[in-house]
Parts: sequence; structure tokens; C-alpha cells
Amino acid sequence: MREIDRRSLLKAFAGLAGTFAVTAQAQAAAAPARGMADGNFRFPQGVASGDPQPHGIVLWTRVEATDGAQTAIALRAQVSKTPDFKSIVVDQVLTVKEDSDHTLRLVVDGLDPDTIYFYRFAAGGDYSRMGRTRTAPAHDAEGPAKFAFVSCQSYEQAFYGAWARMLADDLGAAEDEQIDFVLFLGDFIYEVRGDRWDANMQNPTWLKAADGSLREVPPFPNGSPPWPSTAWNKNPGATNAVSLADYRFLYKLYLSDPNLQAARARWPFVSTWDDHEFSNDCWQTHDTYFDPSGRPAQSRRVAANQAWFEYIPALLTGAPSPHTVENQAHDFKFAAVKDAPFSGPGQDWIDPDTDNRTALETIKIYRTLRWGKTVEIILTDNRSYKSPPPKPPKIEGQALPAIEMVKLLDLGREANSGKPPAMIPGTDQPNTRQTSPRGSMLGPTQKAWFKQVLSASDARWKIWANSLPMLPFRLDLSSLPFTGIKDSLLGIDGWNGYPSERAELLRYMRDNGITNVVSCTGDHHFHAAGTLVIDPDAEKPEPVAVEFLGTGISSETLFPAVERASRGNSVFHSICTFQGSDGLVENWNLAMLAGTMTALVRSWTWGFIADAFWNAAVNPGLKYVDSNSNGYGLLRADAGRVQARLVTIANPAIDYGPKGAPIVRTADFTVRAWKKGEAPQVYGPVFTGKPAFPFE
Ligand SMILES: [Fe+2]
Repeated sequence: MREIDRRSLLKAFAGLAGTFAVTAQAQAAAAPARGMADGNFRFPQGVASGDPQPHGIVLWTRVEATDGAQTAIALRAQVSKTPDFKSIVVDQVLTVKEDSDHTLRLVVDGLDPDTIYFYRFAAGGDYSRMGRTRTAPAHDAEGPAKFAFVSCQSYEQAFYGAWARMLADDLGAAEDEQIDFVLFLGDFIYEVRGDRWDANMQNPTWLKAADGSLREVPPFPNGSPPWPSTAWNKNPGATNAVSLADYRFLYKLYLSDPNLQAARARWPFVSTWDDHEFSNDCWQTHDTYFDPSGRPAQSRRVAANQAWFEYIPALLTGAPSPHTVENQAHDFKFAAVKDAPFSGPGQDWIDPDTDNRTALETIKIYRTLRWGKTVEIILTDNRSYKSPPPKPPKIEGQALPAIEMVKLLDLGREANSGKPPAMIPGTDQPNTRQTSPRGSMLGPTQKAWFKQVLSASDARWKIWANSLPMLPFRLDLSSLPFTGIKDSLLGIDGWNGYPSERAELLRYMRDNGITNVVSCTGDHHFHAAGTLVIDPDAEKPEPVAVEFLGTGISSETLFPAVERASRGNSVFHSICTFQGSDGLVENWNLAMLAGTMTALVRSWTWGFIADAFWNAAVNPGLKYVDSNSNGYGLLRADAGRVQARLVTIANPAIDYGPKGAPIVRTADFTVRAWKKGEAPQVYGPVFTGKPAFPFE
């Protein structure tokens, strides 16, 4: 167990734009009172903190000269134990320049464990807002860990009423009920302008804020050419970020939102990324807009990595490990790369022949943090080392990826005990993965590290910050024999597209007696909960871990998208929804929990005989789905149990301002700590407010 090693940190930071390290110590005299603001500087993105350690924290801000000058700016950083700044422990002047976009990352050590601190920055006579943060408890301290888990905050698709709700509730809560930190699971920004449309599929149509202003993503400084109008593209005319200036522009825009800014000023964030910090459904350095097998975008990946590093406070280089398995994370270091097509999967899917590997190595973000004895947070990077999704060929009538084909392609050359078929059985299509390695989400190096951490951790709970869900989301379409469609997956970008590695990791947990693993996840834009079973197709699926999938803050939720997509096909539309007494019913939840036939019969018979068709084998372990939801998750871990709450807010397209969006429902779950040889169980949902369909 090591604390932050400041000397090696300083060495590592030498020459790293915008990054500094200081040691806290009580100051001889209180800092002078604030003088008059002179209006020469401002802090338009506020302040933030990240990655709390028992004795350290990363502080963040960005300053700009009001006259737009791009010169160096002297910035004073102050940290105090009290909000009146009379108990100052850090008072330092640092210089930030254009090379970090005038962002500051300040790694502070020498702090006391389990303590709230206040911080602020000043340039000339102008002060930032005050931030509040806290350190982690000592590694051997007992006590709960309380956090929110959050993802997917498209700026143009809705407002941040969920953040405002969380803030208002936390400010009103008793101190021992307040959350300690925010676990951010990805899609902090979306890399697109114009990914928003009206009922007639016209885009972009900007939402209107309460003050009448438009919630608009302005044109990028650079930006791609407008996307073409094609059958698959629901967003003709949209553009995407292509340069460092574009990604910086997005972070600045997103952080201009007062609710998000207030959240970053109140809680430390512990962050990983998902796809949209770079590109939709990305893998390694490839984007997938016009070719699902991936287009090269090495230089864009480097730009996205740099902007994330500049705007998201995270302790990477020097992050202390709570056990014998070292953290390998490191800060961003620029590398010049060329965009070149994928040359082949290589041994481990990480293409070694182009600048792919070089671009990925500019930063490493997977790491662990410890919250006392109770929790170890293990953050993985599910994008940088990932193999391309095993997309089956287009087959007549089969719009969604068939499970059996995904399984075959995912196994690559290991399929059929090492004798993979040349053709995909039952089709006239070649097996494009016949000679490929097995699919991987984590890549071999990260996977080995992840397994070592799971084995080494003696925390009561292992909280896996896992940007993509592992719960099965399968559609048993073969139960509708008249359609001639095979059982399919809702998508293959997540773990459902990587079934062999998914099973490998869960089997590893079982075989090594690793218990009390809770996967906290996002990306899919709906709430779900359940146990993770090793093989969903097994006769007796074995649960070995637990997952809570939190929906997005503001990104469009699943149900309306599925409802829209299924219009014009009466069977699929009936599976998705039917008209209830107060609007469309989220029958899709039932399809996920009990199978498509159950959902169809429910639609067509008003539920009189639907239960007779209940298919418990469709998605083993899946306990809860709220497919029409925006909001967030809250989790409290005590020594003996975890309590999770999935919060669904009212329509996020309405600007509720700082008072926050009303809550439609909360769904509460309890998991008791389990021992080797025992199976985890998820108790719940217990609702407040209107229960989700079909849980009434
Ligand atoms: Fe998302």
C-alpha cells in the first residue's frame, strides 16, 4: 500500500502541460481576504475534483482572459478545511498556458483522510466559484461508501434536470446520507452535432430552455463534412468532432451547463469513458459511422484522449494501488500518428502495424481506488483494447444479430474446438472470423490486470466501473415461429457481443472464489438490474456477480427509439408497446424479462393469458428493466450489504432549472454479501412512486 509518491510524480509531470503537484500543510497565516474582482479573468467551466485518495485529491479548473488573450495566466490555488478559507492548507501560484487550453490539474497530497475540503482559484482579482470535495477514508477504516453512478449526458438531446435533482436531494439530506463521490461511467460528451430530431425526423431541432434560449450545439471549429443522407442514417446533416479543437469545444460547451458545473463543484468524480468521448461504438482507434467494421481514426483518437485528460480530473500517473497489483495508469503524452487502415487483428486484436497502438498508448486510464475497508472501485477501459464487434452478415429477414452467429464469430479460430467452419452454418455467407483470435473487450494486458486485482483485493465489495453492461439482453424471436427469425441480441457493441470473454471473466470469479463483485454500468440508456450468470444458455445458469445498469442523465432512452423503429410492423410494434389508459405502455420491459411471445400475447389479449407464455430462460438473471427512463443510480455499500436505487426522473426535455426534475419512481434493490460457494441474490425492486411496467 503506497501513498502518492510525490517525487516521482513531479518527475513524471515535468513538462506535462497544465499539471502540478503540491503537498498540503497548515499555512502560517490565513490567506488575505478576497479583494475586488477586476474582471480580467473568468472561470467559465467552473471547478472540479477527482479520484479521492486517503491523503490526496486531483483539483481542476480552467481560466480564460476576458479579452481572449492566449498568453500564460498566473493562477492561485487555495485549499481550506473551512468554507471561509480561514484554515488554509494549500496556497500556491501556478501558471497555465495555451498548451493545456488553460486547464489546470493540481495533484494535492498531504491531506487528512475522510475529510471535506473546500478549494478555489484566483487570477488577478477574479475568483472561481468555490468547490467542495472530500478525501477517501483510510484503507483500514470501517464505514459505508455512498456514491451516485451516472452516464450518458447528451447536451442536445435533453437538459440536466437529473443532475439538479441529485444536487437538491443531497443538499437536503442528513450528512451521513449524502453521497461521497460520483462514479462517471462514460459518455460525458457526445462527439456529434445534430444527433437530435423531431417527430418528423427532421434534424437538428434544438430544445428550448426555460429562458427561451436554444439548447444548441454550435458548429464545430473544424468538424466533419455533413453526414450523407442514406437509409441507415437517421441524422443526415449531422457533423462530428475531428480535431483537438473540436473535442475541447465540446467539453467547454457541456461544462457551461450550470447543473453539471454545480455537480462537479460539489462532489469528487471518479471517471472512466465509453465510446462517445471519442466516437460512437468505437473500438481501439476506429470509428464506425459509415462502415460498421471500422474506419481508421488514429489522429482523432489522440485528440479525444488529450481533451479527456485536460477536462476530466483523474489520478493516472502515480495512482497508488491498495494492494500488490500496481496501477498501470498513466497521464496523456502526445504522439504524432497517421490515419491508416487496420492491417489485421495480429495476435491480440491490437493492430501493431499501423499507428493504432501508438495512439492508444498516449494514455492509460484503467485503475483502482479504495474507499476504506468496504469498497474497491475497479475502473476498466472497455474501448481502447477492444476487438471489433462480431457482426453477422446481412441475412434476409434477420435485422438483429442472431445469437448463434455472434457466438461463432466471437470464438474466431477457436470455434468448434479449433475447427471453425468456413461458412456460417445455414447460410451462404463466409465465416469472416475463421482465422481470427477470440473476441476481447478488455484486451489481454488489461484482462490479466483485472483478474489479478480481483484476486488481490481484500475489500468487502469490488465495485466494477464497467462502461458496458454484462446482463443478457436477448430477444427469443424463435418463439414466434411464424416470423422465421432466429433468437437475437439487442446489440453487440456491449458485452453481449463478447460472450466468450464475458463467460471467461465470470468463470474466473467462480473458480477463484471471488465474491461480492458488483458491476455498475451505463451506455444503454435504460435502467436494469440482476445477477450475472456464467452462461445464459446453460440448463442451470450459475449466478456469480451482480449488475446495476443506470440509465442516462439526458441521452434519449431506449423505449421511444424502439417504438419508433418498430412502427409499420404490427408484430414488433405490439411486442414493444400497446395503448394503455394513460398512453403507450412499455411492453418492451416485459419482452426482455419474459420473452417476446409473452409480450405479444399481453399486447393482444390485454394480459389475460400472457403469463402462460412466460419464458424465464430468455434472459437469465435479469430482474428489472425500466426501458423508458432518464436519471441515475445511487449505491450504498456497507460491510454486509449493498443497497442500490435506480432513480427515474420526469421528461428531461423540460428545463426544470436548478430545482431539478421531479422523480417519477425509484426502484430499490438489496444485495447481501455472499460467501464462496453461495449464489448472489438481488432483492427488489421496491418502488416509491409509479412502478415500472409490468411490476404494478
Ligand atoms: Fe450513451
